[in-house]
Amino acid sequence: MPPADPHRLNLVFAAAEAVPYAKTGGLADVVGALPLELAKLGHRVSLILPGYPDTLRIPARRQIAKFSLTVGGARQTGLIEQVKDPADAGGVRVLTIRCDPYFNRPNLYQENGLDYPDNLERFAFFSQGVLQALEHVQAEGMGKVDVLHLHDWQVALCSVYLKHDGHPSLDNLKTLLTIHNIGYQGLFPAAQFDATGLPRSLFAPSALEFYGSMNLLKGGILFSDAVSTVSPTYAKEILTKEFGCGLEGVLGSRPDKIRGIANGIDVTIWNPETDGYLPATYSLADLSGKRICKKALQREMQLPDRDVPLAAAIGRLTSQKGFDLLLEILPELMRLDLQLIILGAGDPVLEEQLQAARKKYRDKLSVHVGFDEGLAHRMEGGADMMIMPSRYEPCGLTQLYSLRYGTVPIVRKTGGLADTVVPYKPSTAASKQATGFHVVDASGDSLLSTMLLALEIFKDRDRWHGLMQTGMQTDVSWTHAAKEYVSLYKEMGRGAGSGKPATAS
Ligand code: ADP
Ligand code: GLC
Repeated sequence: MPPADPHRLNLVFAAAEAVPYAKTGGLADVVGALPLELAKLGHRVSLILPGYPDTLRIPARRQIAKFSLTVGGARQTGLIEQVKDPADAGGVRVLTIRCDPYFNRPNLYQENGLDYPDNLERFAFFSQGVLQALEHVQAEGMGKVDVLHLHDWQVALCSVYLKHDGHPSLDNLKTLLTIHNIGYQGLFPAAQFDATGLPRSLFAPSALEFYGSMNLLKGGILFSDAVSTVSPTYAKEILTKEFGCGLEGVLGSRPDKIRGIANGIDVTIWNPETDGYLPATYSLADLSGKRICKKALQREMQLPDRDVPLAAAIGRLTSQKGFDLLLEILPELMRLDLQLIILGAGDPVLEEQLQAARKKYRDKLSVHVGFDEGLAHRMEGGADMMIMPSRYEPCGLTQLYSLRYGTVPIVRKTGGLADTVVPYKPSTAASKQATGFHVVDASGDSLLSTMLLALEIFKDRDRWHGLMQTGMQTDVSWTHAAKEYVSLYKEMGRGAGSGKPATAS
């Protein structure tokens, strides 16, 4: 046998979402795409997900092992299944932890706007299942896993179990926790602590306790070997009171830095030259298809066929995304000669307000409430500009799709939006660096003045085309970010980046 390549890492991703199996937001895009890029770089990569309905429909599933755990007082059985062989999934081995009572449900986390009451049990079970799966696949001859890469609160407990449950075969395993959004921490009442199966001593301020509740993300931050987030600016922001959502002190207590690596996008799925959702494809060399996309989008969204700027906004309707700021300036915007299309789902109050606004401004505003992947692509293809007035944004993917589709992003100057969109100024435009516009403050006034500037520049076809061109030429692929992750994994292997604060034992 040839000697093992010392540069080849053995990496395992664990998350609650990944395209194409389950998605509620950008987390799924990232967990679907980054492993593929790492596999392309020659690393061995596996992905572990809960056994959701979509994975249960995969015919060539293979059972690897079975385990039982007591969770919340009841015995639950988990099946570790391989659902995709690396040869069938871009070099990535996909495993699931199957437990139908927990995961064979219509949604990921909630129904009718209410969280599943057993979410703690579900993800405590899944996190323990991930470690079981690692032991089994290592024993099956997969080789020692170097890094377990965890994503968000749902799997944050993996690091805690690893240190407390005794997994001798995983002794050298390093854990990296990536925080995609610190606004979601996995908070549960103290009374549910026993469902984790962890010793009560861990319900302490130096471990999982957080103002009287249990905080899974906090556990992950304290017990993981390294912590990262999805853009350099957000990595700094979450150390402050304004953005840290109460965890700024915990993050600041880590002696190592919170690494910020900006996301890329899957440029094979999001490619205007091949996108099957678009009525016409296009490229920078020939933008005629984009004009066809615009007309088709106006028709689809029942807006008049007029040659006016067409703006779009896509996203979860939560206060994070700032759709309320857009609603606030709607009366002013609707006095201008433009059209606006909004796609989103979430907060029922915002949904209702948007539907009501649609009725009021039929000729200029169109709204689709719901989750529609195809429409998201057609909006990227057909719109002239994309509005993202987020109050905070760890990275944001929509603006990266927009850059690639020649749809000029108008983004709040925060987090990954600030890092990935170069704002228009006469100087940045002249040096061909500008790709969009920055909304400086999270206020209606700031959004409106930026919109007015964008509309002014839109009238000058050459200047606008310059913005589109620079955006379309920007490298938004995963290539760069994947290499940064590899450096981080290697640093972790050498023991760097693993300065953990003292925790309760
Ligand atoms: P977040 O993860 O905070 O929701 P991102 O910008 O990182 O924000 O990613 C959002 C992803 O979800 C993008 O792929 C976007 O196109 C998609 N998306 C959001 N809302 C909708 C919707 N209503 N319909 C279709 N896709 C949506
Ligand atoms: C989160 C963030 C978003 C980020 C995505 C993927 O959902 O809100 O900004 O792009 O995760 O990392």
